[in-house]
Amino acid sequence: MGKSLKKPTRSQAERWNSSIQSTYGTPSISLVRGKGIEVWDVDGKKYLDLLGGIATNLLGHNHPKVSAAIAKQARELSHVSNFYSHPQVLDLAERLVKMSGDSSARVFFCNSGAEANEAALKLSRLTGRKRVVAALGAFHGRTMGALSLTGQPSKRDPFKPLISKVVHVPYGDVRALHRKVNGRTAMLIIEPIMGEAGVILPPPGYLKAAREICDKTGALLVIDCIQTGMGRTGNWFGFEHEGIAPDVITLAKGLGGGLPLGAMIAIGPSAQLFTAGSHGTTFGGNPIACAAANVVISEIEKSSYLSLNATKGALLRNLISPIDGVIGCRGRGLLIGIQVRGGKAKEITNKLATAGYLVNATSEDVIRIAPAFIITERQIIKFAGAFAEVCEEVYDG
Ligand SMILES: Cc1ncc(COP(=O)(O)O)c(C=O)c1O
Repeated sequence: MGKSLKKPTRSQAERWNSSIQSTYGTPSISLVRGKGIEVWDVDGKKYLDLLGGIATNLLGHNHPKVSAAIAKQARELSHVSNFYSHPQVLDLAERLVKMSGDSSARVFFCNSGAEANEAALKLSRLTGRKRVVAALGAFHGRTMGALSLTGQPSKRDPFKPLISKVVHVPYGDVRALHRKVNGRTAMLIIEPIMGEAGVILPPPGYLKAAREICDKTGALLVIDCIQTGMGRTGNWFGFEHEGIAPDVITLAKGLGGGLPLGAMIAIGPSAQLFTAGSHGTTFGGNPIACAAANVVISEIEKSSYLSLNATKGALLRNLISPIDGVIGCRGRGLLIGIQVRGGKAKEITNKLATAGYLVNATSEDVIRIAPAFIITERQIIKFAGAFAEVCEEVYDG
């Protein structure tokens, strides 16, 4: 006890493998510092971060106002149990209620996306119904409840049996919703864009049809905005372009601007389903995480990020689409999936990292881009140039 840490003699990979479980594989890059859209590794190499902590660092790394708010809150009050209120949690809850557009909304705070969806699942049981409909390919998290909603067999199968009475239907298929959502369905959960599945957009009108079907059957419409929320797609929530109002919105990722924070926002009658003792978590609504979230929301409100995200996303898609090797470039706002030819997504991702650009391959064919909102047009153009060079090397080399 009390011994100071010695300078490590083993590589990062050796230290990782001998101390951390292999759930994420072994990272080849070890990051130590970030500023804005850039990050630096242990050897001082600089990268342009086009992934933003997977759609999480909305204002980039080490944003002065976010860092100052975190430091100030840490000095004042870093944690308090939910036996007590504090100004940061109240400010944030009121803002989220306002953003939801419905004063009947009530917020449950938690620490992650999986927890937000777990909360939604538990909430739906209090309707007295048990059945759930979710989408094939969807990702809603990896805890047992959230995993039951996740529609990816590779992630689900090793952990069966999961929660029963969850059926998965093809994403974007309105007829399948008509078939499976009925008077015994507690909730239908949908991502406005399937992020982890490779930035898959549903056909126009899908969310509207889902709303109508839920209205008719009395099922709760839960929209998982964990990846598509907080302005990423050009609106506060990824469903707004369809003009619908969900019964439940789940948020995490960008909400805390890089700190662990999730929220389950229930609207209308569903806001009254949880009562004292129904649910809870020690860290939910933590003052530091809420302080960070309040600054993130203020900065997005003060700037034109929402409309700029749409413009910047369109620029990126227009620059990337014509590159040889790219089959398609889709998305909304700053959530973009680049479909590449020949199963080369991982190779391109690795070569981009070597060239100093961080992106992520969601599969053999798709590369995901989800940068911080502060990314500039110049940085987008620079990245598109690097992407073209790497594609030339991969496909013509
Ligand atoms: C749409 C969606 N829902 C839920 C989750 C789970 O969030 P977390 O990893 O914070 O548990 C994710 C994470 O990628 C997500 O993209």
